Amino acid sequence: MPTKLTHLKGWRSAILHSIADPNDVGIEQSYEYFPDGLLVTNKDKIIALGNAEEILKNYPDLAVQHYPDSLILPGFIDTHIHYPQVDVIGSYGEQLLDWLNNYTFPAEAKFSDKEHAKKIAHIFLKELLSCGTTTALVFGTVHKTSVDAFFECSEQYNLRMICGKVMMDRNAPDNLVDTPESSYQDSKELIEKWHEKGRNLYAVTPRFAPTSSSEQLHKAGQLLREHNNLYLHTHLSENTNECDWVQSLFPEADNYLDVYNRHNLLTERSVFAHGIHLCDSEYKTLAQNGSAIAFCPTSNLFLGSGLFRLDKAEQHNVNVGLGTDVGGGTSFSMLQTINEAYKVIQLQNTRLNPFKSLYLATLGGAKSLRLEDKVGNLAVNTEADFIVLDYKATPLLDYRLSQSKSLMETLFVLMTLGDDRCVKHTIVAGEEIKIS
Ligand code: GUN
Ligand code: ZN
Repeated sequence: MPTKLTHLKGWRSAILHSIADPNDVGIEQSYEYFPDGLLVTNKDKIIALGNAEEILKNYPDLAVQHYPDSLILPGFIDTHIHYPQVDVIGSYGEQLLDWLNNYTFPAEAKFSDKEHAKKIAHIFLKELLSCGTTTALVFGTVHKTSVDAFFECSEQYNLRMICGKVMMDRNAPDNLVDTPESSYQDSKELIEKWHEKGRNLYAVTPRFAPTSSSEQLHKAGQLLREHNNLYLHTHLSENTNECDWVQSLFPEADNYLDVYNRHNLLTERSVFAHGIHLCDSEYKTLAQNGSAIAFCPTSNLFLGSGLFRLDKAEQHNVNVGLGTDVGGGTSFSMLQTINEAYKVIQLQNTRLNPFKSLYLATLGGAKSLRLEDKVGNLAVNTEADFIVLDYKATPLLDYRLSQSKSLMETLFVLMTLGDDRCVKHTIVAGEEIKIS
């Protein structure tokens, strides 16, 4: 008994987490809040959560870390991001297709060099963790080594991460294309090496319809059928020029999503980034297949792509998570991503409630990734990935929050003014993590 007890840790603070989609149960039933809360972890798992004084009665000798003026939340979940695009974040002047050709493809070409890939994977994960994101669905490049470099780094820090090699056999520079067969073989080897190894998971990753032949998309579908629990990660209906291009490349398809559907790429673990310019039947097909959309507000604004219709996705019961889409997106911070999401919804004359934003950035993301039994909230028996936000991180935040009259106001101000400066501690699998 005493040796077991040494693995127990207590984390005391105000604690908030989502327990359901506010759309299903109403705002008040969608979260749990403990003004003086205690989270108890045993190694990498959460074993108790509740009011501190009550829980402490059961654990009289518990070693407790106390965080006053703070809020514990689950680690954020980013449902769409590109690790090789650290080099091009904040690149001036282009919309999607020119941005890809002028900035993104040249940056991705450098990932044929494993040392470069390792260096960027390290910078990327350090940034993500310092922003409080503990799980992400991540694009690599077309190079197999880019994914090895990524998973080697994520494994070192015991992170729950999902990544995949880009499949891209046309309409891209010669040094960035593979073939249907080589992309299948490379992906297969990576799946065997990394999928469900430790906390790593693999996503079959055709970049988007314009850069894959029909033959390659069929190979992607074959990979999904040949292995259990794989993800499908790609882009969908982001930019109107892109949509026109897809229609001319696949004239037989009813719409953009139908290109993927004809290749059997719609599953419960399929995540489509953006999904801005969709028709009703596309939302319906996404819902029928249990697939998800990653809503990427900073990218959609920065690249001038358009305003995501959260209302339509909700009406059709499509799963939605939030994505930063770095480097088309402009921040690694999910707090800043929520800030921009609020403005996207404001421009459609609707309000994004902060408890809904919390849901999208945590449990909603986990549900989109089918990981809600493991991450996304602080329920007992889930994995102990959580963050400590500091109410006094900046003088402005400190002052503004001192005026707050409700939890909703506090949360909304944190989401509007907050960023990585608020994230004081990031705890992964029960251990505080610091990447140097
Ligand atoms: N569509 C195809 N590739 C990309 C990419 O790298 N970023 C974004 N935002 N959209 C894409
Ligand atoms: Zn993207």
